[in-house]
Amino acid sequence: MTRPLVPPLASGGRLVLDESELREWGMNFGQAALAPLVVTLSGELGSGKTTLAQAICAGYEVTEAVTSPTYALVHEYSSPRSPVFHIDLYRLDGEVQLTNIGWDEIVNGRGLVLVEWPERAGSRLPPHVPIALEYEPGDPSRRILLAG
Ligand SMILES: Nc1ncnc2c1ncn2[C@@H]1O[C@H](COP(=O)(O)OP(=O)(O)OP(=O)(O)O)[C@@H](O)[C@H]1O
Ligand SMILES: [Mg+2]
Repeated sequence: MTRPLVPPLASGGRLVLDESELREWGMNFGQAALAPLVVTLSGELGSGKTTLAQAICAGYEVTEAVTSPTYALVHEYSSPRSPVFHIDLYRLDGEVQLTNIGWDEIVNGRGLVLVEWPERAGSRLPPHVPIALEYEPGDPSRRILLAG
């Protein structure tokens, strides 16, 4: 049996969302997500990557509080559906550190993997569902979400 790699709600196109709409989109995405799956969350500082990761985790039935893994680089959560890894590579200090955090095992494992600042993984980024966030010019309460 085959199943789609990308959940149906991944292909949202270009959406302009306020924070509660963005959280709702993330919740729906998390509900639809099927592990193993790597999702990249790209966008400038403060664009909403962690906010979206929190919503995806909530939709994926993570009940623990999801906090930014800026310093630890990776936080692991449990869900009845699979392990969840929330990774933030902003402070990544080279490829050796990627190896040391268990990157290869995580991205080749059975979990849901959410990666902020994915471009820092370079060629070690596996096939993934890309989601990008951009600021909406002139409207500080909205973000542009590009998916699919
Ligand atoms: N429409 C929106 N969607 C998401 N966040 C929004 C929106 N409008 C305002 N915000 C605010 O923007 C901030 C986004 O912060 P968040 O930590 O999620 O960003 P980030 O992309 O993870 O940043 P970093 O690059 O530092 O990890 C929050 O304070 C949130 O309240
Ligand atoms: Mg963040």
